[in-house]
Amino acid sequence: MASSLHTLFFFLAIFICSSGYAANVPSNGLVLPVGKDTKTSQYYTTLQMGSNHATVNAVIDLGSQFLWFACDSYASSTYNPIPCGSKKCEIAKGIGCAGCNLPPRPGCTNDTCGASPYNPFENMLYSEGFAEDTLYSKNNVKVSELPFSCFHSEYLIGFASIATGMLGLARTEISLHKQVANKFKLPDKFALCIPSDKGVGKIYIGGGRYTTPKSLVSTPLIINPVSTYPIYTEGDPSDEYFIDVKSIRVNGRPLAIKTSYLTIDEKGVGGTKISTINNFTVLHNSIYKPLTRAFVKAAANMKIKSIAAVAPFRACFSVESISSFVPTIDLVLPGKNVYWRIHGANSLVKVNNNVSCLAFVDGGKEPRTSIVIGGHQLEDNLLEFDLVSSKLSFSSSLLLQNSSCSRV
Ligand SMILES: *[C@@H]1O[C@H](CO)[C@@H](O)[C@H](O)[C@H]1NC(C)=O
Ligand SMILES: *[C@@H]1O[C@H](CO)[C@@H](O)[C@H](O)[C@H]1NC(C)=O
Ligand SMILES: *[C@@H]1O[C@H](CO)[C@@H](O)[C@H](O)[C@H]1NC(C)=O
Ligand SMILES: *[C@@H]1O[C@H](CO)[C@@H](O)[C@H](O)[C@H]1NC(C)=O
Repeated sequence: MASSLHTLFFFLAIFICSSGYAANVPSNGLVLPVGKDTKTSQYYTTLQMGSNHATVNAVIDLGSQFLWFACDSYASSTYNPIPCGSKKCEIAKGIGCAGCNLPPRPGCTNDTCGASPYNPFENMLYSEGFAEDTLYSKNNVKVSELPFSCFHSEYLIGFASIATGMLGLARTEISLHKQVANKFKLPDKFALCIPSDKGVGKIYIGGGRYTTPKSLVSTPLIINPVSTYPIYTEGDPSDEYFIDVKSIRVNGRPLAIKTSYLTIDEKGVGGTKISTINNFTVLHNSIYKPLTRAFVKAAANMKIKSIAAVAPFRACFSVESISSFVPTIDLVLPGKNVYWRIHGANSLVKVNNNVSCLAFVDGGKEPRTSIVIGGHQLEDNLLEFDLVSSKLSFSSSLLLQNSSCSRV
């Protein structure tokens, strides 16, 4: 699937000239709401785009490179296609030149910088053009000339019915946090708090001020040397967010896992990343098996009764037998006593009134990335991505601090 384009881009701009809209920046940067579509377990935000402030419900994807949305009925006097060969096209890492034989309209222009939006639900890569327009947030921040890709709604296969696009928050020059940081001279930081079912979480962009949970723990964000996007230039690192999980413990006891699965090799295989697209954390089979075994055993010691599993899960328990505590799962990180504890609502999922399952799935024997921390494990946890000092700070479950993503 991965194809590399060797010669196309030698001249990657390393700095975006800020077009200085320093007015109108509230002290807490840009704040966006986060909702959960319960049918698909997709998390989405709502923004307004263009001169008519068109509402866009965009699924949040930490691993996706830019904003893209359906513009079949989009009209805006501030819409501009990004020409191929332009400086802005280089910054966007545009590939090729897009044209269109229909009457000109947003999404249909000639000589347009080529964009390759990716639909992770269908594993489809599209070929479109880049454009730019103004983004408006509910807290009255206006971000002019924001690059995005505009396409036909027929490409939204697999998306929640409420969604009309996707907000990519990867480590790219044209992702919303980088654009906000450059345009308003704010630090390139964002915090994400995704809600469980009926809550409303938030994204704070630009180092916003939020109620900081008591126990924010930090770990370095590490770079996977090989791109994880379906199309890339050879030598491009991944712009997804990886952390250096060293081991995993269940109720304090380390699992026997080969370290080669936990590290990232020179081909970019292995390691741990964070994804808002996967419903549940996906583990390499050689991690999934020992985790499940250890969890079932620890649960039995706590008098939690195992029952027939419900797919795709392989360890399920009788709801009746679960008191308030379940075994803890710790992702152990570099440093002294640094770990991300997954427990309670983040470790089990209720599949029906009688059955709760360990909310992790088997990623098979040859996944590209050994651990992909998914949405269920991220809910009601505050995550702060600091791209200035390249670190991730996390709160662990806010529910245990009598809080939630609806309250930060
Ligand atoms: C997430 O869960 C929903 C509903 O349970 C299901 O429809 C969807 O296919 C799942 N998506 C993934 C990526 O597992
Ligand atoms: C693009 O160029 C072709 C060939 O010159 C022309 O027929 C077409 O109308 C143009 N499309 C747009 C959207 O301007
Ligand atoms: C749950 O258990 C009750 C009592 O044992 C039973 O009547 C009911 O059918 C079960 N529900 C499901 C969804 O299995
Ligand atoms: C938890 O939060 C609620 C609402 O903010 C508050 O009423 C309650 O007193 C808090 N409980 C504890 C134990 O802090």
